[in-house]
Amino acid sequence: MTMRIDGKELARGLRAEIAAGVAALKAEKGVTPGLAVILVGDNPASVSYVTAKGKACAEAGMLSREIRLPAETTEDELVALVKKLNCDPEIHGILVQLPVPKHIRDKAVIDAIAPEKDVDGFTPINVGKMMIGEECFLPCTPHGIVKLIEFSGMDIRGKHAVVIGRSNIVGKPVAALLARKETNATVTLCHTGTPDVGHFTRDADIVVVAAGRPNTLTGDMLKEGAVVIDVGVNRIPDPTKPKGFRLVGDADFESCSKVAGAITPVPGGVGPMTITMLLWNTLESARRVAK
Ligand code: GUN
Repeated sequence: MTMRIDGKELARGLRAEIAAGVAALKAEKGVTPGLAVILVGDNPASVSYVTAKGKACAEAGMLSREIRLPAETTEDELVALVKKLNCDPEIHGILVQLPVPKHIRDKAVIDAIAPEKDVDGFTPINVGKMMIGEECFLPCTPHGIVKLIEFSGMDIRGKHAVVIGRSNIVGKPVAALLARKETNATVTLCHTGTPDVGHFTRDADIVVVAAGRPNTLTGDMLKEGAVVIDVGVNRIPDPTKPKGFRLVGDADFESCSKVAGAITPVPGGVGPMTITMLLWNTLESARRVAK
């Protein structure tokens, strides 16, 4: 029987721990963790992510400052805002929701975030520290993915993990995390230049699919019993749904769930864990300041 890896359930437990940590930090040090989330423009998927992040933050007892800016905001204006937040003592974490409009360079914005407030783990300093095993903010989705694999009951050590997709947000960092001594997986990173992805996934104990395309992974590409982590969130038009669309992942759930030992659903798998690890990093950032 295939296990459905319930990201909501795992997130619920961790968020209760985080809320207790927030309450203790307030009581003992008088510090309330604060997260600033910036959204430029009105991309519907980004609006929904940012709303969920703000809500989760408030539910954990943190200060949530949501800043929505028009799509015409210039790169200089955005960088100036980030720099202002770098110096704001109420704010311990800064997140600029990606993608930003095309006229703004991701790099310029990420480089402006102070590494000690970079709770996304996107700045070159935090990425570099992760690669050499120094203490840092781990990127939220990759960190959540490792927790989900462990939650499925799999001992990651010595397993073959195949990652599909080489984005800076998910593919590259999750490959690096799984290969660290702590988890000790053997990792293959597949991408759009890989001629036959199935050749690799059929040998995999763990498949993380983060390609941004539905049906990237199908059941015939899997080894019996593999653990599948589906990072994709794709909107498919569906007039029978109240919102006019439904969400599907990058894996074909139906065929994959017949072969996999465990699989994350979309929605309700990776998404809740990304937000949870963001709260985790924000609490950690506030703890460092309160020391
Ligand atoms: N866009 C998609 N995922 C993420 C994320 O984890 N952080 C930010 N800032 N933007 C995203």
